[in-house]
Amino acid sequence: MKLSLRGVGKSYSGRGGATNALAPLDMDVREGEFISLVGPSGCGKSTLLHIVAGLEPATAGAVELDGERVLGPGAEIGLMFQQQTLFPWLSVRENVRFPLTLARNRARAPGGARDRQAARIESLLRLVGLWDFRDGYPAELSGGMQQRAVLARALVVQPEVLLMDEPFGALDAQTREQMQELLLHLIQHHRITTLFVTHDVDEALLLADRVVVFSERPGRVLATLDVTFARAARSSELKLDEAFLHQKREIMALLRGRPRSETQRDRLLFGLTHTQLEQGEGGS
Ligand SMILES: Nc1ncnc2c1ncn2[C@@H]1O[C@H](COP(=O)(O)OP(=O)(O)O)[C@@H](O)[C@H]1O
Ligand SMILES: [Mg+2]
Repeated sequence: MKLSLRGVGKSYSGRGGATNALAPLDMDVREGEFISLVGPSGCGKSTLLHIVAGLEPATAGAVELDGERVLGPGAEIGLMFQQQTLFPWLSVRENVRFPLTLARNRARAPGGARDRQAARIESLLRLVGLWDFRDGYPAELSGGMQQRAVLARALVVQPEVLLMDEPFGALDAQTREQMQELLLHLIQHHRITTLFVTHDVDEALLLADRVVVFSERPGRVLATLDVTFARAARSSELKLDEAFLHQKREIMALLRGRPRSETQRDRLLFGLTHTQLEQGEGGS
């Protein structure tokens, strides 16, 4: 297993007592697998990624990367978080190069071989479509372009695992779709083990090999769905496919806190829409 979580749980202690953020969780992630995590706000998704990244200790259990326990942050793990921004005083290319200048990454980066580094930065900038903007500054870029640069920066150290926490959450729908397509392209050509948190069920399904659905806080795994659409068939159009919509409805029903069979039965019996059903249930 590339990544193993064994009984990983988290509670925060504060003045008002302990907050149970994440119920003990087991998860195995294979090399190259892309896992989407969906669940209600506050169910511990970000907490989980912070723990896997070694940025925060778990209060129970352990995370292993390639069989070794994760005890702190390292370059093996690439991060792309929601509020991440570029350094405004560095050009696009300098931003992408930045992680390679950090001492903790120097041992990992192709040591001394500046040519190879430059080639790698160039290929990443081309991959995300920013080569022509390499000498520009973040303020000159659109939101989507900035996120593409953030993605290139996350990949420059060739991490073993990529953790993405709602990376496209702040983008408009069209730009978001472009980022999804870019990520699909990336996955197809450079398999990288990824945990991807999103609120968007379409996005979760489109990208993933497996979707893990969490319950309300303290988050526990309600279901894990295998997503088997061929990689070559994955594009925005897939979102309209019948099998895709079927899996989407299944996940939506889980997120609403009802098994799908029950949702279907209610609709068959009463001919109600989802909205009517929810209103009738006192906003559950
Ligand atoms: N540093 C912290 N101190 C105390 N409570 C926290 C802290 N970080 C997160 N929490 C709480 O833990 C729960 C899970 O948070 P989070 O992982 O951010 O959820 P999600 O990302 O799924 O929305 C929430 O109730 C949140 O308020
Ligand atoms: Mg979060």
